[in-house]
Amino acid sequence: MAGPEHVAIIMDGNGRWANARSMPRAFGHKAGVEAVRRTVRAAPRFGIRHLTLYAFSSENWSRPPDEVRDLLGLLRLYIHRDLSELAANGVCVRVIGGREGLQPDLLDLIERAEQRTRGNVRLNLNIAFNYGSRDEILRAAQKLVDQARQSPDCDRRLTSADITAALDTAGLPDPDLIIRTSGEMRLSNFLLWQAAYSEFVFLDCMWPDFDEAELVRALEEYGRRERRYGAVATARDAAL
Ligand code: FPP
Repeated sequence: MAGPEHVAIIMDGNGRWANARSMPRAFGHKAGVEAVRRTVRAAPRFGIRHLTLYAFSSENWSRPPDEVRDLLGLLRLYIHRDLSELAANGVCVRVIGGREGLQPDLLDLIERAEQRTRGNVRLNLNIAFNYGSRDEILRAAQKLVDQARQSPDCDRRLTSADITAALDTAGLPDPDLIIRTSGEMRLSNFLLWQAAYSEFVFLDCMWPDFDEAELVRALEEYGRRERRYGAVATARDAAL
């Protein structure tokens, strides 16, 4: 099977990785940023066109204030430090998630990163920040209601394409492969609509240890899967 075009990752295990080293959780998140760098650099070499990373969920605000501050600081630092490299390497940055209530300087940074890299086509890097899939679906539904109210064609039936196009991920293909590190096996409110036919690979490694070898492990596992999208295996597949 061809490799996945769109890979989405739930980067889990930073805290446990730090804990195992008797270090504060922030140490794990910092090491997690290095794993982000490695992954963004490696992805295009494996034919990955879209990479979506779950960096901060809409539920993560309930973590201790210091940890929230550290995570926001790391996102700021990543964009500050890496934007030139990302732009030069043909990476198009997009941040998905709710924007309401975000600090103005962070909003400004996100918008500048998106504008500067807009025309790039080598890799779409989607950072899910203040992201929750139910929140995204709710915002999409509200958008469609608001549009319908203003439309003369307000009796038209909605299609699934309308919802897809109203989500933060509009224009992106659905993820072919969703990877979660740290041995946990759940979606945690990530891409619920988009993951309808995704393949899942759960790796035992903690996110700070994620590297090219782990990516290859996940891609190989994906290569062994048979994607049927609700249909039956073709005669050719069955003969194999
Ligand atoms: C989950 O580990 C990880 C997060 C909540 C944050 C992920 C953030 C980064 C990797 C750094 C910032 C990202 C970018 C794109 C610059 P956890 O803290 O829940 O770990 P645990 O389950 O072991 O406690």
